[in-house]
Amino acid sequence: MKKYNVAVVGASGAVGEEIFRVLEEVKFPINDILPLASARSAGEEIECQGEVYRIEELTPEVFEGRDIDIAFFSAGGSISAKYAQYAVEAGAVVIDNTSHFRMDPKIPLVVPEVNPEDIKLWEETGIIANPNCSTIQMVHLLKPLHDLYGIKRVDVSTYQAVSGAGKKGMEELVMQMQAFFNFSLDQAKVEAFAHRIALNVIPQIDVAQPNGYTKEEMKMVNETNKIMHSNIAVSATCVRVPVLRSHSESITITFEENVDVDVQKAREALAAFENVVVIDNLEKGEYPMPTIATDTDETYVGRIRKDLFAKNMLHLWGVADQVRVGAATNAVRIAQKWIKLEH
Ligand code: A2P
Repeated sequence: MKKYNVAVVGASGAVGEEIFRVLEEVKFPINDILPLASARSAGEEIECQGEVYRIEELTPEVFEGRDIDIAFFSAGGSISAKYAQYAVEAGAVVIDNTSHFRMDPKIPLVVPEVNPEDIKLWEETGIIANPNCSTIQMVHLLKPLHDLYGIKRVDVSTYQAVSGAGKKGMEELVMQMQAFFNFSLDQAKVEAFAHRIALNVIPQIDVAQPNGYTKEEMKMVNETNKIMHSNIAVSATCVRVPVLRSHSESITITFEENVDVDVQKAREALAAFENVVVIDNLEKGEYPMPTIATDTDETYVGRIRKDLFAKNMLHLWGVADQVRVGAATNAVRIAQKWIKLEH
């Protein structure tokens, strides 16, 4: 079996560190790892599959002569914009976790359970884009229902964890909570988010767009339809909540006009879908929550119920670990499928 040389750009970050964990767990066939980050982290050690590797500084030349097969990028859009080309020129397939390439029509945007067939389009540019975290977990739930009934419209509100802003986001929530218990919350640093996140919710993720939505909300609109090759009307409200890890979503789905939703059928279609787990017993207080999803590779769904007034509408509640399902695991699953395609 061929073994691969893997680079991870952003190796010291929240997603980068998780990529090493997932590579180890799935026993990814690794020959060598090149961990890359800024000069700040150069020299630090990471461990994967029993081997220790030293982080090197990301430079335009660092990929030369290293025979990298797969390069995961998760160091931010501007880093991908500048450096992905060097990895491609050195012969690697780039699996990019940032939003930089996602809507480029030449670049496939892939959720392996939903549109694995698009991976083969990688050859044109050498790049495969990993979608937005909230979008990945939502399309895991939309795809089986779209295949069952045909979706016309989706209205979603997200409850997104601070892990979406990387390590600095998680640290900021922890620091602010510590400040709260020291009676000094007013003096706590506010840097990672526009407002204090401890004991608060912030109805803005990413920057404002001229149409009154945020960039995160527009990612959910545009990326959903690119991944599903669909023309679904999507409206999103993205909200940051003081949860450390795992995003939750309240999703309302409107099917085609003539559909009369059978909740049991919908539940069965969701349960049968790859990497989706149904937890749905309201009477017993059983439904997905971040405490259940964190550190796992599944997208959980519950609170599945028909609208009280429209027969073609369904409401549900989905939760997934954003660092894994929404980033690292999805990227590694893309790499696993890419390997099968190529060799
Ligand atoms: P570093 O730790 O050296 O700053 P997170 O999403 O958790 O904030 O992590 C961001 C990741 O992106 C980190 O690994 C960080 O490395 C990396 N990164 C940030 N800026 C650069 C840069 N200019 N060059 C290379 N890597 C960078």
